[in-house]
Amino acid sequence: MKLANGVIRHTFGAPEKFSCLRTLSFTPRRKELASLSDPTPPFSREEIGFSSSSKGTVFTLPLTPGERLYGFGLQLKSFEQTGKKRIVRNNADPQADSGDSHAPAPFYLSTKGYAVLVDTARYAKFYTGCAKRLDGVRGADKQLGLNVQELYAATGGGNQVYVEIPFAQGADIYLFTGEDMRDALARYILYCGGGVLPPLWGLGIHYRTKTDFTAEEISSVVRELRDLDMPCDMIGVEPGWHTHAYSCTYQWDKFRFPNPDRWIGEMADHHIHLNLWQHVFTHPDNELYEPLREYSGDFEVWGGLTPDLSIPGCQTLISDYQQQNFASKGIGGVKLDECDGSDYTGGWSYPEFASFPSGMDGEQMHSLIGGLYQQAVNDAFEHSGARTWSLVRASGAGACSFPFVLYSDLYEHRDFIRGLCTAPLSGLLWAPEVRQCESREELIRRMQSAAVSPMMCLNNWMLRLPPWKQFDYEKNLREELLPDWEDLFAACKQAAQLRMSLVPYLYTAFFRYWQTGVPPIRPLVLDHPDDPAVFGVDDQVMIGDSLMAAPCVAGETRREVTFPQGAWRCFYTGRRFDGGQRVTVDAPLERLPLFVQEGACIPLAKPLPYLSGDTVFDITLRGYGEGPMKAVLYTDDGESFRFRQGAYSLLTARVDGQGKVTASSSGEYADDRYRIVGFKRM
Ligand code: GAL
Repeated sequence: MKLANGVIRHTFGAPEKFSCLRTLSFTPRRKELASLSDPTPPFSREEIGFSSSSKGTVFTLPLTPGERLYGFGLQLKSFEQTGKKRIVRNNADPQADSGDSHAPAPFYLSTKGYAVLVDTARYAKFYTGCAKRLDGVRGADKQLGLNVQELYAATGGGNQVYVEIPFAQGADIYLFTGEDMRDALARYILYCGGGVLPPLWGLGIHYRTKTDFTAEEISSVVRELRDLDMPCDMIGVEPGWHTHAYSCTYQWDKFRFPNPDRWIGEMADHHIHLNLWQHVFTHPDNELYEPLREYSGDFEVWGGLTPDLSIPGCQTLISDYQQQNFASKGIGGVKLDECDGSDYTGGWSYPEFASFPSGMDGEQMHSLIGGLYQQAVNDAFEHSGARTWSLVRASGAGACSFPFVLYSDLYEHRDFIRGLCTAPLSGLLWAPEVRQCESREELIRRMQSAAVSPMMCLNNWMLRLPPWKQFDYEKNLREELLPDWEDLFAACKQAAQLRMSLVPYLYTAFFRYWQTGVPPIRPLVLDHPDDPAVFGVDDQVMIGDSLMAAPCVAGETRREVTFPQGAWRCFYTGRRFDGGQRVTVDAPLERLPLFVQEGACIPLAKPLPYLSGDTVFDITLRGYGEGPMKAVLYTDDGESFRFRQGAYSLLTARVDGQGKVTASSSGEYADDRYRIVGFKRM
């Protein structure tokens, strides 16, 4: 069945009542989809094999030689997903490359220009070309491998994708087609109601304070940041704000926060948007506990209830509560913690056989609760009329339209950079947050990769002092002030200011995300699906149309950079690099390697300490290459949803061959928001 241009649903057997797209609520972006072309599907319904038995359902989908697959949600341990077994199971902190993830998705994307969603909330298994049915044809004799990789490569893969869904007697398969892989992904995201546009302040810097800090201690952190002119827009308050946190009372601890309303106001006076930590497991002291009982699962978690958010009445109770107590009180965002599975973290969550009043079991709830929880909280912010830019630790398919960024307790820096490449390929957002570090170098490198992510977040939930004053609380300095911390602070501030100077460019890229479904930060393969040289590049990202970042980890002073087709320039020096090659470049510690497509003009803002509806950016245009060029800048009121009705502006700054700049704008905001103060040709 055709649902929109490039969106087809095939129903096989009897799908289960609960699945990602059946259970989550979102509004497909029909107008945008209707304006796109209507490409031919990569394969027909007849080419999809389907069988069901008492064990569940098995699908067989075509895979052609040379085709590369990506997706399966946030994957921290691997990028390319061809020739693998993936188990789509929601779990906190998976250490192995099994498919388990904080945000797994039964979704893959192909370099052939299409995407597949097998709509299930079960722990489905995907065999992406690694399994081969016995077909009676004797395999070619191969040399015995001399290492593990060669040995298993010699066994050969299959040219099918097999999908096994336990218990289910059928499922919907969605096909998203496109002119290319990027277009197919964009259609998936648009169909699911995305992409998302943060409030302007959401692109600023998010600083989370120590778990047990009082209002006064947090206020002094804010004063210190402002005194040091360290940019900050969001302050995260960790579990200590609750009277009881595991499970949650959602009530302010009056000892630490004697007058929350007044304090929220004081923070607002400092242009700080508060983000409150919480999870869904509701403590008996909360007023919702009794009304929620009839809507909750039959297992307790940390002594609290697990609400069945798939029931509309339950969604409304929680959404109203979040609106009245947080969104409408001026809280800017929340951190929805602990909503992932606990197989690798001690098994604290409800079991798979738990049952919920809607008829859902624990396995399905593990897959869906992250999305449902985001939906309930998102509704609260939508009703209050203010955009949020929040955090969540579990998500999955169908959640593209929720303004939540993923994070993890895992901490391998290389994996965190990989997350920037994998999450967007399933329409998700990822924050490679900065926590405790073991060296100056590590802290600086982590700050740099956070600077080019959807949310630049410093999660100091364990640190009494800021990370530039104190490293690792456990292993290192035990709350002793670092000698020469000012130097380290200067390097951290430089990364934060780089972020702040990119905000107008990023905001415009996010607007395009909302408008077209193309992720603002994405791996190279999405823009170059025909170039085998970029198939495996999982440590570089495109930002918007023209900027490319190649973050470093501690220990690297040089690194290899893949330059896709075309010509590129160093962001800092203008040095030219031919595309279509891999080059070792110098990467001095104070610089995040950044490159610009030749011919592009990057608008850079004078860094500000915070962002607001009244912010005016002083923009210097940086032109990379000769000849005329232009930059486009988006703006709106920065916080409401009026942009959806067209209340926004696009400013086009044109530079002619002689470097003369002229600007024209459409809409009501751009003239106030941007002041073009200079142009520099690099
Ligand atoms: C973890 C979370 C951390 C921090 C901590 C506080 O679950 O991932 O970022 O919030 O809880 O208890």
